[in-house]
Amino acid sequence: MTKVRTKILFIGAGRMAQAIIGGLAGNERFSITASNNDNEERLHYVKAAYGISVSNDWRQEVANSDIVLLAMPPEIHPPLLEDLARLIDNQLVITVAAGISPSLLEDALPEGTPVAWVMPNTAARLSESSTLYAAGKHVELHHKQLLEEILMGIGAFENVTEEQLYELTAITGSAPAFIYRIAESLKNQAAAVGISEQQARKLVAQMIAGSAAMLQTGEDPAELADQVATPGGSTAAGLRVLDEKGIDQLMQQAVTACREKSRQDH
Ligand SMILES: NC(=O)c1ccc[n+]([C@@H]2O[C@H](COP(=O)([O-])OP(=O)(O)OC[C@H]3O[C@@H](n4cnc5c(N)ncnc54)[C@H](OP(=O)(O)O)[C@@H]3O)[C@@H](O)[C@H]2O)c1
Repeated sequence: MTKVRTKILFIGAGRMAQAIIGGLAGNERFSITASNNDNEERLHYVKAAYGISVSNDWRQEVANSDIVLLAMPPEIHPPLLEDLARLIDNQLVITVAAGISPSLLEDALPEGTPVAWVMPNTAARLSESSTLYAAGKHVELHHKQLLEEILMGIGAFENVTEEQLYELTAITGSAPAFIYRIAESLKNQAAAVGISEQQARKLVAQMIAGSAAMLQTGEDPAELADQVATPGGSTAAGLRVLDEKGIDQLMQQAVTACREKSRQDH
């Protein structure tokens, strides 16, 4: 007996759509169709690269889908949701767009539509995203299970409230850029001692990967820092500089700045 496959329609076939589609590769439970704006070349590419179906008119695909996954820019959502509202018939609607919360989706779509807002980060393309999601009020257990199966393909995920998602995006979505800034500084200092740029980049990347692996054991970051820093030793001298310069306040200010900007934008 052939299993019934869950049909996902992607509207948007760019970086994030491809990260999610790539994460579902080989998962027989889903059948995928991707659609976009007007970039035919991109549709040819995703069809060949991921072995999925494509369509140059998403409107024709909605009735035949179980899940509609919106992977296009936030500003395209309002007009597109207006069109989608006329076609939707109880499909689960998911967006990955910044600022398009479950409340916004529920307001734009027919009463009772199950919706979810997903916020992955750029590591999704390596299946290493730290993804947050918030579900709307009509999402049932089977919707959640499907959604989590989709998200599993791009990394780890947490279910949070809409309000928490707004606040936490600064940590999971923006703070990777803070880590890259630190990496850049350390890489430049490593290269300054005469090793190649490539060697410097490699050793900093491995140092951060190793530190992340240690954090993923569940140990507290403060304890891990103590394990590196022998009292009175060289690491302790470095940490003292960070503390005296107010690293914690600096991080708080950076996170606050991200949150404030994102509130202004939405
Ligand atoms: N990239 C990330 O790491 C990341 C992380 C978190 C959230 N997101 C969110 O993911 C969404 C997509 O980002 P992305 O990085 O994947 O962007 P992208 O690579 O630029 O892809 C955008 C896609 O949206 C399609 N599109 C634009 N207007 C459309 C319309 N009117 N109708 C149908 N499709 C339309 C584009 O079509 P064409 O192919 O025809 O150009 C393209 O396929 C955004 O909302 C972004 O906030 C991205």
